[in-house]
Amino acid sequence: MTETATNSTATLNKFEKFKLEKDGLAVKQEIEQFAQIGWEAMDETDRDHRLKWLGVFFRPVTPGKFMLRMRTPSGILTSGQLRTLAEVVQRYGEDGNADITTRQNLQLRGIRIEDIPDIFRRFEQAGLTSVQSGMDNVRNITGSPVAGIDADELIDTRDLVQQVQDMITNSGEGNPAFTNLPRKFNIAIAGCRDNSVHAEINDIAFVPAFKDGVLGFNVLVGGFFSAKRCEAAIPLNAWVDPGQVVALCQAILVVYRDHGLRANRQKARLMWLIDEWGVERFRSAVEQQLGASLQKAAEKDEIAWDKRDHIGVHAQKQPGLNYVGLHVPVGRLFAQDMFELARIAEVYGSGELRFTVEQNVIIPNVSDSRLDLLLKEPLLERFSVHPATLERSLVSCTGSQFCNFALIETKNRALGLIRELEAEVSCSQPVRIHWTGCPNSCGQPQVADIGLMGTKARKDGKTVEAVDIYMGGKVGKDAHLGTCVMKSIPCDDLKPVLQNLLVEHFDAHLKEEAVTST
Ligand code: HEM
Ligand code: SF4
Repeated sequence: MTETATNSTATLNKFEKFKLEKDGLAVKQEIEQFAQIGWEAMDETDRDHRLKWLGVFFRPVTPGKFMLRMRTPSGILTSGQLRTLAEVVQRYGEDGNADITTRQNLQLRGIRIEDIPDIFRRFEQAGLTSVQSGMDNVRNITGSPVAGIDADELIDTRDLVQQVQDMITNSGEGNPAFTNLPRKFNIAIAGCRDNSVHAEINDIAFVPAFKDGVLGFNVLVGGFFSAKRCEAAIPLNAWVDPGQVVALCQAILVVYRDHGLRANRQKARLMWLIDEWGVERFRSAVEQQLGASLQKAAEKDEIAWDKRDHIGVHAQKQPGLNYVGLHVPVGRLFAQDMFELARIAEVYGSGELRFTVEQNVIIPNVSDSRLDLLLKEPLLERFSVHPATLERSLVSCTGSQFCNFALIETKNRALGLIRELEAEVSCSQPVRIHWTGCPNSCGQPQVADIGLMGTKARKDGKTVEAVDIYMGGKVGKDAHLGTCVMKSIPCDDLKPVLQNLLVEHFDAHLKEEAVTST
């Protein structure tokens, strides 16, 4: 008997039980009441879990100050939308800020439940939504951050990404058809040649491929990370025309919803079902749900490049226009930065902004004649178009400042350490260093050149913050995951270890002053 067939109420874990008792999305009707009674009087399951169906996260590290996770399909926002978010952070987020995430998304902090009804009204006016962004829902859908403007792109994926989000969320209203998946779910659609969405770590990924001269997508399934197991996505052996993308996502989601394993949350991601069934049976079930047979995958896909980071000034496919990638250190934005970015996008571009999975911002549609002035903007002293080599590729999850799972502080430490290293080591090539505060791996250390995963270690008889070190992650063409190469390095001892790794594996050199002082 399969594990699926044993999904009786007797074996349900606490998450499955509370989802059956009351759908997560039901709290949408109760938001006004929650705002009136306040966070301390709320039912704990509503507060700690169900609110995540609306993107509202209780944060035990900052009780009473919630985190709001948006949905920004393909990472695209208008300046007006960013200004609305800046106002929310400024007006309602006490000590508020916002983080750009590794799913091209934004998380706002310091939000009080009392203000949520008003914030949601503002979102509605601005065409923003945070619905179904947490717990057992489909996360922000990623797409090429330069879709529609990349001179070398194959398929402009913006509309497809939006359509998939609209299907899943009922255009932001919330869609009970997909509010009780067995677990979280990630979808990415790449239309570019450099796999800028990290296709391999998504439950469904579409990568451009030609079949009989027609441009469409090969489909990958089952990629995921967890504390216990990390798997790259595998081929579904299917090629689809762009017009079939939404229907295929829907069919896969229904199969996963109805048959995915639910007994053990450690074994509930899509890949566990594919393991149990085999990819052939899974493919047949998807075809049955789709009501059509799938074409076999094209022999090869069109991912041919190493991954770009989009920082700096780049000519667009539209003559005379450029996109300008600004480096945002560890993705952290304050309200004033958000207002400034919105203004800059309006003054120099077309009033549009885009986030990347490296936690940076792109201003598209800057005309040649406006470039020089844009590059002189004071904000670019901090959000640089030519950041230092190591800092350029630094990525970090939230860490202990706001996240209760964290075993270590990440963002501030990552930035402090990289700046010290930058002063002591000269490195001619970017090295992608990713920090993640615990084995949940939100900062994706497995895709990094050097990944640092928070842990605890013993040093001089004391428990101290430490990291396990991962290496060998490759992104872009022939992407594959890195593995753990060193364990339990106390953070205080990390700098010389990283120096050695940079010198030995990335062609770096110790600067003279550093050599003489060691
Ligand atoms: C059981 C496993 C996991 C737990 C409990 C978990 C928990 C969390 C929490 C609490 C946050 C928000 C922290 C904050 O900023 O306050 C977060 C954010 C995030 N996590 Fe995880 N996480 C898990 C696994 C993963 C994995 C495997 C990935 C993918 C590699 C991932 C990707 C992300 C991303 C991208 C964000 C930022 C929000 C977004 O854009 O969706 N997480 N996670
Ligand atoms: S990796 Fe751990 S510390 Fe970092 S955001 Fe995820 S759960 Fe929090």
